[in-house]
Amino acid sequence: MEIIKTIEELKKYRKTTEGKVGFVPTMGHLHDGHLSLMKAAREECNNVIVSIFVNPTQFGPNEDLDAYPRDFERDKRLCEGGSVDCIFYPDVDEMYPREELTIVRVERITQKLCGKTRPTHFQGVTTVVAKLFNIVQPDIAYFGQKDLQQSIVIKRMAEDLNMDIKIKVCPIVREKDGLAMSSRNSYLKENERKAAPVLYESLQKAKGLFEKGENNADKIKETIRNNIEDKVKKEIGNIDYIEIFDTENIDDVKKIKKGNAIALAVFIGKARLIDNIIL
Ligand code: PAJ
Repeated sequence: MEIIKTIEELKKYRKTTEGKVGFVPTMGHLHDGHLSLMKAAREECNNVIVSIFVNPTQFGPNEDLDAYPRDFERDKRLCEGGSVDCIFYPDVDEMYPREELTIVRVERITQKLCGKTRPTHFQGVTTVVAKLFNIVQPDIAYFGQKDLQQSIVIKRMAEDLNMDIKIKVCPIVREKDGLAMSSRNSYLKENERKAAPVLYESLQKAKGLFEKGENNADKIKETIRNNIEDKVKKEIGNIDYIEIFDTENIDDVKKIKKGNAIALAVFIGKARLIDNIIL
């Protein structure tokens, strides 16, 4: 497995690869969610490149950039176990050597859901992903449904900018109790960790209601809200949003249809946890 830290070397490496290149962009602190993306890439591509870069521009001023967990040696072992061919591991100066005057911003759909509390988050994501796409030049790039809005935004960017890259979205990988795997779960204290599966439980409950014929979005949101508020004490948890929407334009729906998504974000202790389900 190659470990490459500079853009120039990565571009050189890329000239030596043959066949389809699969790319998995990450911020490291890898878990089974990331590994599932590498596995999907391994199955479909001749060459698998993983990037590990904690991208400062997607963190807001009061967010957890400094606290974000980092452990390259562990990540390296996991990539090796996942039969990755190459890790691209640039530092901040390599990716942002001077003031960036160019940003890639997807309008409208980035201002909804997570964009309401994190107004500049998605332009940080799209800019770094566009840079990484230009550097790595993959045939297929793999993203997780865990960050559903991110995957919708990136698909839209790739389409709008005519990028010749197929975007694949892979299912959410969960802990045994249903909690979606996330690097940020490491922020949870014991009692918070116990409360955290309530996100998934509520989504499952909502899905059950929809499957029994309930299609009123307000009623379903209310059920989710009540379920979370019943199970999580105010001192531990606070709901950021619960939204039901179509997965192309992220427009609110009133009458739910098959294919719509429910997404939620809940502050549990220091962590802001997100989860979603496509009906
Ligand atoms: P990061 O949070 O490290 O996630 C990297 C990829 O792993 C994303 O596509 C994310 O959706 C996916 N992922 C995370 N948890 C998952 C889970 N439990 N199941 C399935 N997939 C999961 O997302 C980012 O990094 C960054 O924003 C990035 C795209 C790298 C740009 O900086």
